[in-house]
Amino acid sequence: MIATTDKIIITIDGWSSCGKSTLAKHLARELGYVYIDSGAMYRAITLFFLRNHIDWTNPEAVLEALQNISLEFVSNEKAQQSEMHLNGENVEYVIRDLVIAEKVSDVAAVREVREFAVAQQKKMGKKKGIVMDGRDIGTVVFPKAELKIFMTADNEVRVERRFQELYDKNPAITIEEVKANLEMRDYIDSHRAVSPLRQAKDALLLDNSNLSIRQQLEIALKWVHERLQLKKQEVH
Ligand code: DC
Repeated sequence: MIATTDKIIITIDGWSSCGKSTLAKHLARELGYVYIDSGAMYRAITLFFLRNHIDWTNPEAVLEALQNISLEFVSNEKAQQSEMHLNGENVEYVIRDLVIAEKVSDVAAVREVREFAVAQQKKMGKKKGIVMDGRDIGTVVFPKAELKIFMTADNEVRVERRFQELYDKNPAITIEEVKANLEMRDYIDSHRAVSPLRQAKDALLLDNSNLSIRQQLEIALKWVHERLQLKKQEVH
């Protein structure tokens, strides 16, 4: 375990379904850091909007709805993971549904929604020692993060991985549906006016198309240790 004073902020951005959360979770576990899944916040907001029939193209309706949203990451000791709670309700599993995936990129493109989520994300980094994954974490949320990783993987690999994940929960799902959803989200996430998905200039590229989970973790850990070394030299 690394001393608190040496803790850094690690950001992981990239395309949908390229393994960001897997790497982020493993890194956090290995380093004793907190893992934050920023996408879960946009998914929970989308769930609230759908349930309450909020028109997210209307900024006033969005601002009013956001006042009634409280998001919290709650640690589930048994499942050994942190889970998204929306107004006190555990929504960790429903927010992974394709119904949410179909709308979340539109909701996440709304300026007011992003301001609401980003303000909370910035607070979570105050004490450092976090790994946060998303689309704009290295560019907007923590532009000064010590280590920024930008992940990618071949399209077929990403579709196959997401299909396996969703198929286990819903065997009626088709590979075409998954592919169409990924392509749509990638397009909206990288073309929106507010904080589009971009590789930060100082982010390190990690293409994991042909890497095992262990191999990608080892590469990232090497980068972490290099950054920690740099930090130590700056202090002394
Ligand atoms: O990482 P994910 O698939 O759970 O993210 C869901 C959606 O939320 C994704 O399509 C884009 C959006 N998102 C975002 O705009 N900014 C983030 N920091 C994280 C997610």
